[in-house]
Amino acid sequence: MEEGADFIRVTPPASPAHWQAASIHTYDDHRMAMCFSLAAFNPAGLPVRIEDPKCVAKTFPDYFEALFSLAQTRTSAIPVICVDGPTASGKGTLAAVLATELGYHFLDSGSLYRITALAAMQAGLSLDAAHEQAIADLVQSLSIQFTEGRVRLNGTDVSDTIRTEEAGMNASRVSALPKVRLALVDLQHGFRQLPGLVADGRDMGTIIFPEAALKVFLTASAERRAERRYKQLISKGISTTLPSLRADLEARDARDSSRSVAPLKPAQDARLLDNSDLTVEKSVDLVLDWWQGKQPFSAI
Ligand code: DC
Repeated sequence: MEEGADFIRVTPPASPAHWQAASIHTYDDHRMAMCFSLAAFNPAGLPVRIEDPKCVAKTFPDYFEALFSLAQTRTSAIPVICVDGPTASGKGTLAAVLATELGYHFLDSGSLYRITALAAMQAGLSLDAAHEQAIADLVQSLSIQFTEGRVRLNGTDVSDTIRTEEAGMNASRVSALPKVRLALVDLQHGFRQLPGLVADGRDMGTIIFPEAALKVFLTASAERRAERRYKQLISKGISTTLPSLRADLEARDARDSSRSVAPLKPAQDARLLDNSDLTVEKSVDLVLDWWQGKQPFSAI
């Protein structure tokens, strides 16, 4: 490395064999962050982590977004963390926080089934096997946009409409139809973009991203899940009762676990996490530790 009056020059190692994976301290210097980010194009294909990437804000706040929109790599090289689990296990919250912490994209696959069910009902199709092909065809024509935490179906904001208990139950019905599941596969794969993805659902680790480097299967007792859902709904001013919620979520678990295609179950290589007695922060820290343990530079 050579430093001049108004430049630093970094000369790469002579051959691919000399490269090693590294996690780079930036010392709050945006030039370090930008310069070393280019090491990600190394001929050995080794990963590079830039610590404190936000220091680029001094001169180029969207530097990494711009870089990732231009950079291309093999899809298989883009890291994926899967968070699967039953209804109201807290996987949505866990996955969203992980994605924010790591600066990764976020796939809420359940929302795709919720939107599909909504679109099918709007088209007058009942959510049963007799309409399986029609619903699968409909999926191909949908325009679904995720922006700033909101989701739009054919231009209309449906974020709140798809979050009701009824929408969840309808999603569970439509998700039991194999052709509908197949129709949603490409859309889900499309979320795997640089710098990485956290995917939340039921079959992320078993079917959609079977080669993901980290798979978490999140559980919590039915009692605890019903309590959490109850608090959520009450805080939104939606009246409900604990026993009815618990019965609904147990019915949904039973359907999701017993269907013939992509049933809810942990992948063989998934790490089980029972968060009945854990705070969100504790669960996040634990999974971030597991993720760190997967990195080639974890010992550096
Ligand atoms: O995660 P959620 O509650 O938004 O999911 C709604 C329903 O969608 C769930 O009951 C089953 C179905 N689903 C699925 O079959 N596969 C997924 N990957 C995600 C959700």
